[in-house]
Amino acid sequence: MAEELNPETPEETEEPIKQRKNGLYGSVSDELAENMKSGWADTALHGLEPIAQAGHTAERRAALSARFPGERLVIPAGNLKTRSNDTEYSFRASTEYAYLTGDQTHDGVLVLEPTGASGHEATLYLLPRSDRENGEFWLDGQGELWVGRRHSLTEAEQLLGIPAKDVRELPAALTEATGPVRAVRGHDAGIEAALTDKVTAERDEELRVFLSEARLVKDAFEVAELQKACDSTARGFEDVVRVLDKAEATSERYIEGTFFLRARVEGNDIGYGSICAAGPHATTLHWVRNDGAVRSGELLLLDAGVETTELYTADVTRTLPINGRYNELQRKIYDAVYEAQEAGIAAVKPGAAYRDFHDAAQRVLAEKLVEWGLLEGSVERVLELGLQRRWTLHGTGHMLGMDVHDCAAARTEAYVDTTLEPGMCLTVEPGLYFQADDLTVPEEYRGIGVRIEDDILVTEDGNRNLSDSLPRQADEVEAWMAGLKG
Ligand code: GLY
Ligand code: MN
Ligand code: MN
Repeated sequence: MAEELNPETPEETEEPIKQRKNGLYGSVSDELAENMKSGWADTALHGLEPIAQAGHTAERRAALSARFPGERLVIPAGNLKTRSNDTEYSFRASTEYAYLTGDQTHDGVLVLEPTGASGHEATLYLLPRSDRENGEFWLDGQGELWVGRRHSLTEAEQLLGIPAKDVRELPAALTEATGPVRAVRGHDAGIEAALTDKVTAERDEELRVFLSEARLVKDAFEVAELQKACDSTARGFEDVVRVLDKAEATSERYIEGTFFLRARVEGNDIGYGSICAAGPHATTLHWVRNDGAVRSGELLLLDAGVETTELYTADVTRTLPINGRYNELQRKIYDAVYEAQEAGIAAVKPGAAYRDFHDAAQRVLAEKLVEWGLLEGSVERVLELGLQRRWTLHGTGHMLGMDVHDCAAARTEAYVDTTLEPGMCLTVEPGLYFQADDLTVPEEYRGIGVRIEDDILVTEDGNRNLSDSLPRQADEVEAWMAGLKG
């Protein structure tokens, strides 16, 4: 890739730009600087339609405004993170910012300014389209001739339905502002520095908690996005089955790359590092190194999710026989996990305690472990002491949405101690994992790991499995694989 002439941004100094550009091509002559300013067609965009979720983001901001009357609220998108020198990691806007604005650009900040005892005026502070007058558009590493065009503030206002200002004015404005303020921390150190002596960690945490709990119940736009994410993910799983022979010839990386292709073509990205765990790697819960061999006769545990262009992710796991047929022991373990998942899914309904689906799935797994002679005593005793957890290891699910482990800052009483409501979406993902070095199980069990994970929406009268286009029952999995492998 080409080097920037100079990665500094023009506004960092008052000096004329021509004296600061001493990169690869040397300084910019006056004549060239003048030449670059003009001769460009007017490409301003007019009459842009608002983005699909604009109405929903307005409702979300209204709920936030009602919770914190009379206080200034600051919600940053985050900044680019340097990978090396003048290259950056790909950017993903903070969930809180994207949820409240629908915008995904770096350096953006949503500010809700109190309008009195109640109500707020929202302003979106953004990097505007890069400037032609000062040369930013071609000399700065983030200028539009380097990384592409940003929207002008007017264009952004039309798209997002929120008045917009230049974010470069914001730190000074925040420093001068008086009155109570809360900010979402951890995304934009520059903005936090402008607020230093006005915010407190405790007050900011209340804002973070509110924005986490506000996302527990999904609106219609969000449900549609989650369905889209699951549908794309199902296609990604099909892609993987079609190339299992190529993975056998190479490594788990072939699976990772194949799924990633689907995620990038149909969505924004993967929603979390894909777990492409073949053979004994399936017993490592978050195996994301994906550098192992893929062998016929073993299982592949694939835990992956497409994140949509609007930043909602699926989180789906299937445990597949690499040669297309489960052997007897693999099927016995698989069937047990399937039965546990069925029990878990059946427990997802409005009014049920959040913990019910976990308890239902754990009970089935404990029963199986006792039945197989791996645990002694009554199932009640096993569950009371949690003895099954040597092989079940993790909780049976979590909320799902813009974050894979969504609503993570919600209070216990609003999340794990709550009852389910229509619009909540959660994963049900029991598993059994027999480590390769576990001397307490018969040798043939060692190195087998099975997880089945689906994304379950709570509906008015029960639930809907958003990821049910992928088969789960063992015979159906085998038939589906046979159809794809041809
Ligand atoms: N993919 C991580 C999880 O299932 O929670
Ligand atoms: Mn999960
Ligand atoms: Mn998962």
